[in-house]
Amino acid sequence: MKTIHSPEVLQTELLALKQKGLRIGFVPTMGNLHQGHLSLVQLAKEKADIVVVSIFVNPMQFGPNEDFDSYPRTLIDDSNKLENLGIDYLFLPEINSIYPLGQEQHTTVSLPRYTDKLCGKSRPGHFSGVTTVVNILFNIVQPNLAIFGKKDFQQLLIIRSMVKDLIMPIEIIGGEIFRESNGLAMSSRNGYLSIEEKTQASMLRKIILDAGNQITSRSQPLLTIVNQAKQQLMDAGFKVDYFEIVRQDDIATPKDSDQHLLIAAAAWLGKPRLIDNLEVTRQ
Ligand code: PAJ
Repeated sequence: MKTIHSPEVLQTELLALKQKGLRIGFVPTMGNLHQGHLSLVQLAKEKADIVVVSIFVNPMQFGPNEDFDSYPRTLIDDSNKLENLGIDYLFLPEINSIYPLGQEQHTTVSLPRYTDKLCGKSRPGHFSGVTTVVNILFNIVQPNLAIFGKKDFQQLLIIRSMVKDLIMPIEIIGGEIFRESNGLAMSSRNGYLSIEEKTQASMLRKIILDAGNQITSRSQPLLTIVNQAKQQLMDAGFKVDYFEIVRQDDIATPKDSDQHLLIAAAAWLGKPRLIDNLEVTRQ
């Protein structure tokens, strides 16, 4: 595994490999790697000849009151995990090589659609930060394919839209949500939870699954299912940000005839804000 800090060096090396006909697979991350991230890396290894993983805690996607400063940075551990998986390149850019002009003066990429819903409502500017940095990283790595987790379903949808709108020749692949044994979706922010809270946190998954069963059996109107779920979350000690049932393909409000739905939820438990989702198909 080669560790590279310079965008120019990485870009030049990867272009040479691409010209030899090798397929580049890319997994962007913010580090503090867990099994969820590593499952995406495994998928990249299956689909590509050369695997590149980036670790960059992107200041532009954090709000002023969010955890940019305290976001867990565990570079040595992360690097060992990636080395063990046998990836080819670890890209560790410095902030000023990604944003040489500072964030405020930088060219940005943003999408008008999908960004004001779900997580976008409580995290204004977050998705512009994500699309801007992913665009920059894509221009450096120029991958044939890139992998994003379905845990951040809205992020995956937004990246797919960006690639389509800007006609970027990159295949976007969604990786399944990797979970703890109690069902809790793995997240770098789960480290903020106490052992007791981790057990409590698994209720989020249970409540979503229960709502999913009610959707498939069409036993209740969607609004009733949503309201029940919110109440159950509050009873389990969560502070609910949102619990919504939307259409999978555009996260819009579903019509009665829509079959492919998504339950998406975000809720605080103590310090961290946890997110999870479930794709549901109904007849
Ligand atoms: P980060 O939160 O580090 O996540 C990196 C990738 O891992 C994302 O695609 C995310 O969806 C995926 N991921 C996280 N937890 C997962 C889990 N339990 N199962 C499967 N995949 C999981 O998402 C970001 O970083 C940033 O926004 C980034 C795209 C790197 C841009 O800065």
